[in-house]
Amino acid sequence: MKPVCLVIGAGAGIGGHVGKRFAREGYHSVLCRRSDEQGLDRLVKEIEANDGSASGHLLDATQPNTIEDCVAAVEKDVGQIEVAVFNLGAQIGNRILENTSYKAFELGWRLATFGLFRLASSVGPLMVERGNGTILVTSATAAVRGNAGQHSHAAAMGGRRMLCQTLNAELAPKGVHVAHILIDGAVDAPDTLGKMLGAERFQKLREERGLEQDGLLLPEKVAETYLHVAQQHRSAWTHELDLRAFSDLPWWNH
Ligand SMILES: NC(=O)c1ccc[n+]([C@@H]2O[C@H](COP(=O)([O-])OP(=O)(O)OC[C@H]3O[C@@H](n4cnc5c(N)ncnc54)[C@H](OP(=O)(O)O)[C@@H]3O)[C@@H](O)[C@H]2O)c1
Repeated sequence: MKPVCLVIGAGAGIGGHVGKRFAREGYHSVLCRRSDEQGLDRLVKEIEANDGSASGHLLDATQPNTIEDCVAAVEKDVGQIEVAVFNLGAQIGNRILENTSYKAFELGWRLATFGLFRLASSVGPLMVERGNGTILVTSATAAVRGNAGQHSHAAAMGGRRMLCQTLNAELAPKGVHVAHILIDGAVDAPDTLGKMLGAERFQKLREERGLEQDGLLLPEKVAETYLHVAQQHRSAWTHELDLRAFSDLPWWNH
C-alpha cells in the first residue's frame, strides 16, 4: 500500500500541484476540495496518466465531521496518511470594519484556524502512534502582518500560525514534523486568486507580472518546496519558511 498525501484544499494552484508532486514521488494523493467535481476529476486523471495514483473527495471543510470522516475513511480504505497538507485560505478581499460582518469574521476562523485544528486532531494522534508523519500548512502574509481591510483574514491566519507553533511544540518531540509555509505574494492560482479577481483582471495580472516574468508564484515550483520539507531529516527540520517571487518585496520591507 502506498503512503498517502492528503491535501485539504486542492484546486488548480498550490493544492493540486502539491498532490501531483507527491504522486510523482510514489504517494497516493487524496485531493479534497469543496466544489468543481470536474476540476477534481481532471487532476486525478492527470496524475493517473503520469503513472501516479490519486483519488478525489468533495467536502466542505466548514461543515461538522467532514475533515474527521475523510481522515478516517482514507486510513481505513486507502492507506496511512504520511503527509497531511492543510491548504485552505480565508482571503475575502479587503473589507473595512463596518463591512466585515460577524459571519464573515467567524467563517475566516472556521476555515483557516479551526479547520487546521480539526485536521491535526484527527491525523495527529495517528502520526504520533506511528512515530512519524508530516503536517504541512500553507500560509499567507496575513499570518505575520495585519493590514487595512484584513480583519477576518489576518486574525484567522495569525491564529493559524500560532496553532502551528503549539502543534509543533507538542508533536515534534513525538516524531511529527509540522511546517508553516508562508506564501508572501500572489500565486498563479485560477481557482482562488483567479476567482477573487475575475477572469479579466486575473489574466491582466498574469500578463503584467506573471507568465515568463515569474513575478507570480508558480504553484508547481512551490510544490517542490513542500516535497523537500516533507523529506527533511529529523535532525534538521524546518518549522517556518517563506516563499515569494524574486521581484516582490518581502512583507517586512513594505
Ligand atoms: N492564491 C494566492 O495568491 C495566495 C497568496 C498567498 C497565500 N495563499 C495561500 O495558498 C493557499 C491556497 O492555495 P491556492 O491559492 O494555490 O489555491 P488552490 O490550491 O488552487 O485551491 C484551494 C482550494 O481550496 C478549496 N476550498 C476552499 N474552501 C473550501 C472548503 N470550505 N472546503 C473544502 N475546500 C475548500 C477550494 O475548492 P473549490 O474551488 O472547490 O471551492 C480551492 O480550489 C491558502 O492557504 C492561501 O492562504 C494563496
